[in-house]
Amino acid sequence: MEGSLLSEVFPGLNESEQNQWLRAAIMSIHDGVLIIDEEGIVRLVNPEYTRITGVSPEEIIGKELRSVRPKAQLRETLNDGLTRVGIYRKEGEVEYVVDMAPILLNNEIIGAVSICKGLTEVHKLSMELKKNKEKISQLKQQMNSLYEAKYTFEQIIGAKGGLQETVRLGSKAAVSDLPVLISGESGTGKELFAQAIHNASCRSDRPFVPVNCAAIPASLIESELFGYEEGTFTSAKKGGKMGLFEVAHEGTIFLDEIGELSYELQAKLLRVLEEKKVRRVGSTREKRINVRVIAATNRDLHQLIEKNHFREDLFYRLNVLNLYLKPLRERREDIPEIIHSILEKSSYNNLFRYELDDFAAEILQEHDWVGNVRELKNAMDYAICMTEDRLIKARHLPESIYKESFAGHNIRSLKETTEAAERDKIISTLNQFGDDVEDKKKVAEILGISLATLYNKMKKHRINYK
Ligand SMILES: Nc1ncnc2c1ncn2[C@@H]1O[C@H](COP(=O)(O)OP(=O)(O)OP(=O)(O)O)[C@@H](O)[C@H]1O
Ligand SMILES: [Mg+2]
Repeated sequence: MEGSLLSEVFPGLNESEQNQWLRAAIMSIHDGVLIIDEEGIVRLVNPEYTRITGVSPEEIIGKELRSVRPKAQLRETLNDGLTRVGIYRKEGEVEYVVDMAPILLNNEIIGAVSICKGLTEVHKLSMELKKNKEKISQLKQQMNSLYEAKYTFEQIIGAKGGLQETVRLGSKAAVSDLPVLISGESGTGKELFAQAIHNASCRSDRPFVPVNCAAIPASLIESELFGYEEGTFTSAKKGGKMGLFEVAHEGTIFLDEIGELSYELQAKLLRVLEEKKVRRVGSTREKRINVRVIAATNRDLHQLIEKNHFREDLFYRLNVLNLYLKPLRERREDIPEIIHSILEKSSYNNLFRYELDDFAAEILQEHDWVGNVRELKNAMDYAICMTEDRLIKARHLPESIYKESFAGHNIRSLKETTEAAERDKIISTLNQFGDDVEDKKKVAEILGISLATLYNKMKKHRINYK
């Protein structure tokens, strides 16, 4: 180090004091230090060097290095000017690892320095490194299981029924890596599809990170999505916090209920999607991220765009591929299979099976299911809980569903009542007037119908007068 620089570092010290200071610093380094001059003569060793190698300063200082340490390689560094790192050395019983570098002054080699660590320390460090590596891989595993997508396309009920086309499109979307927007009413299986797409994509062994844009308070959502730097808020964690976009790196982020995201955050999200970089709140640094985006909504985004509640540019960014999930009432053919799968899951074995009687099945088939598959699942769970003998009857269904259908059933029984009344009236009139042809003509006249209609009705009601 040059005099001028040294005096900047040590103002107020004269040159000899500065040299003493530097020497003391080298002597205090917790690695072994050995310095040779351009002739290969050892000029300095520190106490740690002596501790590691067992060679005292008196034995080595002022001597040609190789005369004391025959296998030393520092001489080569002096000759070729190359740095050598992590060289294993063994002299007698002592093992250590050495880093070597030339000492340069004005581009000229004026000596060389070797820094050594005893192998016990290296061993300790490598054990620590190994432990840390294990810890990191454990944490990675935990993180992956925390952010794991469960569902696959094979598990989607209706894949061969009412959702056939949607599953076909979804499987195509999975191999493309393009953004997908999934729309559909609540409970139609949007998250299920998002998971299935992730699992069928090349990102399947990386995290699937669901974010419910409606459930995170507006004040937190930015830092949740993008993370924050240490000291950004009073409650900020030490070391800052990773955002969900960073967590999803190389995987998929599922932005659920995207229609609920504030207009301001929509702009930030758009920027992240376009630039593929995130910046933590309170940071100036940007970090590259590689994330596949799947968004979902049960809102009509076109309507939100018209009302200026949703950014059109973001919509086009997210809606590269679109999957629309039909409500359950428009694919009633899937209802029996969904019911069957729930009954199967709830039955422990063949001796302990849940079943559904015909009337209950009919009610479930006819119900409007505004809450779609989720509502059907809940209704079944409720009924399974309510049944006493594992046969689910209409009265075990949630009251709202049961009553609604019962009202429907009354209308049918009104029809039955009318039919019964008609039958009774025909029989009583026939009883009154007799049943030969002339009598029947009279009966038909009184009942206000033609003779042919009377015969038809008698046949229909199985009235056995000849
Ligand atoms: N086709 C299906 N096959 C099997 N299970 C389904 C199907 N569709 C939906 N489900 C089940 O219904 C429930 C609701 O599904 P999901 O959470 O994916 O709906 P969603 O559309 O995301 O609803 P929301 O808009 O309310 O968030 C889940 O338990 C899911 O497993
Ligand atoms: Mg959902």
